[in-house]
Amino acid sequence: MEVIKEPKEMQARAKAYKRQGKIMGFVPTMGYFHEGHLSLIRRCRDDCDVAVVSIFVNPLQFGPTEDFQRYPRDLDRDLKLAHQIGVDIAFTPDLSDLYPPGFQTYVEVTELTKGLEGFHRPSHFKGVTTVVAKLFNIVLPDRAYFGEKDYQQLKVIEKMVSDLNFPVDIVPCPTIREPDGLAMSSRNVYLSSEERQAATVLNRAIKAAQNALDRGLRTVSEVKALMWQVLASEPRVRVQYVEVVDPETLNPVAQIEEKAIVLIAAFVGSARLIDEGFLSVKSES
Ligand code: PAJ
Repeated sequence: MEVIKEPKEMQARAKAYKRQGKIMGFVPTMGYFHEGHLSLIRRCRDDCDVAVVSIFVNPLQFGPTEDFQRYPRDLDRDLKLAHQIGVDIAFTPDLSDLYPPGFQTYVEVTELTKGLEGFHRPSHFKGVTTVVAKLFNIVLPDRAYFGEKDYQQLKVIEKMVSDLNFPVDIVPCPTIREPDGLAMSSRNVYLSSEERQAATVLNRAIKAAQNALDRGLRTVSEVKALMWQVLASEPRVRVQYVEVVDPETLNPVAQIEEKAIVLIAAFVGSARLIDEGFLSVKSES
């Protein structure tokens, strides 16, 4: 596995592979790998001729009061894991490689970013789309892999790619969970053992919503009331939002006709966690 820090060098390697007709796959990450990251990386390696993983904790997507400084990092371990999986290139730029003095160009998706995460984390998605656009221009991937765990991020990236004609196929990948249902996240390390236990309530609330649907409930206000009840059973969990939205537009829905997605954000102790779950009306047999 090659480890490359310089954007220019990364771009030159990518161009060389492309001249050989290789399909380039790319997994952008902020590192501190868990099974969620690894599932994307394995999929990328299996689907593509060349697998590139970037590891970069992007300051632009953290708010001034957020956890950029203390965000967990372990580059040596990440590189070992990437190597074991069979990654071809790890791209690990420094801050000054991506944002040299005088940097002043941003990419912004204006509408899809207004609600949900975008409402609670203003300028977060501007940081995400700017860094991902830069990474796409450096790595030149044919395919890029994103987790449904960060569902709004996935939709925002798809929108950026379509609006700006990036020649990249975005491949959505399912959320990987701990055996007790907690969605894997680098931020789970912030949780104490009591908080870790309480955090499973996010997934329990999503399951309660699907159960309600299976019992015939279709009205979102009722489904949401049930989820709030489940969430209220854990006093350690401070919910920021629970929304049931259309999986494509991310607009709130009032009635669940066929498909919808639940999106939740909550603080558990000092950790801000998000989770998602598709809801589907099972057809009568
Ligand atoms: P990061 O949080 O490191 O996540 C990297 C990728 O892994 C994202 O596509 C994310 O959705 C996916 N992922 C995280 N947890 C997952 C899980 N439990 N199951 C499946 N996939 C999971 O998301 C980012 O970094 C950044 O915003 C980035 C896109 C790299 C831009 O800086």
